[in-house]
Amino acid sequence: MKITVVGVGHVGLVSAACFARWGHEVVGMDDDSRKIETLQKGGVPFFEPGLPELLDEVVSAGRLTFTTDIERALDGAEVVFVCVGTPPLPGGGPNLSYVEAVGRNVAKHARTSVVLVEKSTVPANTGARLTQVIAREQAGLDSPVSIDVASNPEFLREGAAVQDTLHPDRIVYGTGSERARDALREVYRTVVEEDGMPVVETDVPTAELIKHASNAFLATKISFINAVAQVCERVGADVDQVADGMGFDQRIGRQFLYAGLGYGGSCFPKDVDAFIHLSRQVGYEFTLLEEVERINCEQRNVVLDKLRNELWHLNEKTVTLLGAAFKPGTDDLREAPALHLARMLLEEGATVRIYDPVALANVKEELGDAVELFDDPIEACRGAHAAVVTTEWDEVKAIDPQALKDALAYPIVVDGRNALDGEALAAIGIHYQAIGKPAPRASA
Ligand code: UDX
Repeated sequence: MKITVVGVGHVGLVSAACFARWGHEVVGMDDDSRKIETLQKGGVPFFEPGLPELLDEVVSAGRLTFTTDIERALDGAEVVFVCVGTPPLPGGGPNLSYVEAVGRNVAKHARTSVVLVEKSTVPANTGARLTQVIAREQAGLDSPVSIDVASNPEFLREGAAVQDTLHPDRIVYGTGSERARDALREVYRTVVEEDGMPVVETDVPTAELIKHASNAFLATKISFINAVAQVCERVGADVDQVADGMGFDQRIGRQFLYAGLGYGGSCFPKDVDAFIHLSRQVGYEFTLLEEVERINCEQRNVVLDKLRNELWHLNEKTVTLLGAAFKPGTDDLREAPALHLARMLLEEGATVRIYDPVALANVKEELGDAVELFDDPIEACRGAHAAVVTTEWDEVKAIDPQALKDALAYPIVVDGRNALDGEALAAIGIHYQAIGKPAPRASA
């Protein structure tokens, strides 16, 4: 099929490459000429494992091209995926003006009938709004082409985006149009035949709700285990073992029960907020999700309190954050707990150092000279009064305990991701504190 993907950010670019891999002819379109130029020259504008190789393959096979020109992008397109950003608005809820603009542009420039598919994370009823925008835009046209709207949420995780898209747990799409449904069946035919994953076909609002509810549920799982971690600390239990014990129950599952600094990234914080906002708009106060958000923010204070307990006050103390990205495998800093923590530490007068294996350029853009940047974890800790594990990078987990102790001015480690071997650190005299776990025996 001839597919156009509008917006080549994380979701759009990975989706475009995977569609091309399944044999479709794909055009990636974006207003950002720098991004398109990078892609046309064979570069990749962000870090995502496996993506450069996949792009190489499909671009050299001639199945994926890039342009900034919407008319060219729509020429002959049968299916158009909307993958533009929906950044949070200051008052809560996502900014949908980019999604609306795509709807308007497609209505204006499409010369043949198309299926318009929302893939960006959008609140329920965006599909209905898009249909309305298209109708208004086409009102003055002599012979408007038919544009059918569908919703096809993605569930890809950054850092595993290629695998998640090539081999998803399920495919969800919703539409009221038979033509759109047939087109989406054709888009995913190869992968469904190969992998045999379940396909959930619904109407548009139901597909939109599946995305909201899935992300909100995963965020709830994380906040739930973080709340349990608080109780664990107070009764001397170990949250990781509690999660192991819970996780063997197949109704619960072990995934997303890792206690720590809480969730960040471009999706969970924004999506939970958007779901709260949407629910309120339609007359339901989703207070459960408000609590999920509150617990998530509170986790940064939990770590700060541990530092204060060790260091008394943080003014003029040097604290090293081991990891900046919101999780390993990405250079994405959006809503990264490490950045929130860095800002809180700076406010208390601390000197902040940050180590990260891939995200330092982005940290510089976010925080400028307010923090010191290091590409070596031990050097980042040299002379610091405490180190905090903020992202569970393999490079952080592989730190040699003795080298860490020798580097630090005070042997204090707060493990905000429960990633290190606390017993090994305590055995050589490091004051080790994790989230929701008793102090290791050797330092008790
Ligand atoms: C998420 C969803 O997983 C994906 O399905 C959706 O399409 C987009 O949002 P992503 O944001 O890439 O993907 O990251 P994910 O791996 O889900 O992690 C999100 C955050 O939760 C990270 O900050 C991670 O550190 C944190 N997390 C995750 C925990 O704190 N504990 C856990 O047990 C799991």
